[in-house]
Amino acid sequence: MTTDAQTLHEQLCEARAELSHRRITTLFDTDPGRAERYQCQSNGLVVDFSKHLIDDHVWQLLIELASAQALPAAFAGLVVGQSVNTSECRPALHTLLRGTAAEQHPENTAAVRNALTRMKTLVTRIHGGADTGWTDQAFTDVVNLGIGGSDLGPRFICDALKTPEAPLRAHFVANVDPEDLDHTLAALDPTRTLFVVCSKSFTTEETLSNAHRARAWLQAAGAPPHSLGQHFVAVTTQVTQAQQWGIPAERCLPTWDWVGGRYSLWSATGLTIPLALGWSAFEKLLGGAKNLDQHTLESPTADNLPMMMALLEFWQTRYLNANTHAVLPYAQRLQHLTDFLQQLTMESNGKRVSTTGEPLRSDSAPVLWGSTGTNGQHSYYQLLHQGTRSFSADIILPLISGSGDLPARRSLAAHALAQSRALMVGRSPDEAREIGALRGFNERECRQLEIPGNHSHSLILMEAVTPECLGALIAAYEHKTYFLAVLLGINAFDQWGVELGKEIAAAIQPFLETGATAPTTDPATLDPATRQAAIAWRKANVK
Ligand code: F6P
Repeated sequence: MTTDAQTLHEQLCEARAELSHRRITTLFDTDPGRAERYQCQSNGLVVDFSKHLIDDHVWQLLIELASAQALPAAFAGLVVGQSVNTSECRPALHTLLRGTAAEQHPENTAAVRNALTRMKTLVTRIHGGADTGWTDQAFTDVVNLGIGGSDLGPRFICDALKTPEAPLRAHFVANVDPEDLDHTLAALDPTRTLFVVCSKSFTTEETLSNAHRARAWLQAAGAPPHSLGQHFVAVTTQVTQAQQWGIPAERCLPTWDWVGGRYSLWSATGLTIPLALGWSAFEKLLGGAKNLDQHTLESPTADNLPMMMALLEFWQTRYLNANTHAVLPYAQRLQHLTDFLQQLTMESNGKRVSTTGEPLRSDSAPVLWGSTGTNGQHSYYQLLHQGTRSFSADIILPLISGSGDLPARRSLAAHALAQSRALMVGRSPDEAREIGALRGFNERECRQLEIPGNHSHSLILMEAVTPECLGALIAAYEHKTYFLAVLLGINAFDQWGVELGKEIAAAIQPFLETGATAPTTDPATLDPATRQAAIAWRKANVK
């Protein structure tokens, strides 16, 4: 930590000591203008930070922290291709996929443009019926086979923007549990179904297992071996492996090591998006993200939407002890946003040491969770309002969402705004006593009706659920995630933690198959408890 950052840290601790006794409502009483001041806008997004426990002093300290920690330079470094993924010695150039700083990377830009041209050609041929299945009938359905970053982004976007006129119906299968694929395929016609095998590494067990099962389904329906390739497209860095698997070269689209899986929906990894929604929607999505990149590069900190989001999250987690962050979209079309953000933020920033291996001085990313707001209200909001855990939250309200009737959409908006206000104001002991008295509660029982409120959160208004706004929203969260990583001193682009479980699963497989420990199995893999559970599984499954 630089001296400047250390001094700012001490000042933020002092500010926290002072502010933690204050209520956000009283901050509004003395400063009604804060709603206009503490907000950032860009490309159809307005983020209102005024319901955070902050004042001008903290706001200013956070802005100074951004400069002490060189956040603008860090972002400039990301887009020009510095090796920000330090443990894997490579850049993270997702911004280039939408054309940001294209002139700085002539070779990669050519590769990106070439891939986009190939994607567009393929999409046009499929939509136009030039590329068909083995019976020469046009495709009606596309099934994306992928997991993690090869699933969550495209799944979210396809669901958010789906229309009855969609050129193809999109389906997503991620789970290695065959129930997932079998359930999806049960409703589909094999002659008119296209599969996109989406795997950056082309080694992911879940995806390859589902791809094999899909191929067997086509074969069982009568697809001749020489026509199977017509039903598959691969998206991967391992084009040779995909070809060896049986997908023709012209149907293998590239992605690159310099794009992280969870940041890759803008590449061919997102192919299912234009297949399902049309090429123009995909272009607009990229355009929205590019505009947000530009905003992030050019805006001063106080107006910089993702930078302020990151600084506020840092304030919440580091100084106000929020250990979870709820994402609460008030729109059915955003139902998969939280799943997408879980991987983006937790796989990126769920780290415990800095890029130089120093243990972190504070917690890293908060646990991100949530669901569509109205559904959550009838489930876990009770804990938000009266539980003992501290949290921060994003309430997201698209101003226009879908074509549903106005009264229902009005009610949705009323709930979003009501919850945002309720999280702030709560219910005071006096109000609780008044209500409790009507129910015949004694003084002590009335405490059950108290709601502390004072929960810091952001209210994000989004112009409409359009490709442009979604592109901007996702890019904003991508950059927020990166800025938070810089503030924490961690690498947002590796994920060493997820490998251990994969290795152990590979070692357990032989025992589940044969009942014997493979000679290569580390004895620690089958500790007594794991062995006991594995035996129970064999008993139930191996007759
Ligand atoms: O297991 C985690 C992970 O490596 C993610 O980072 C990635 O998005 C996902 O698996 C899928 O990987 P792939 O695209 O290589 O199949």
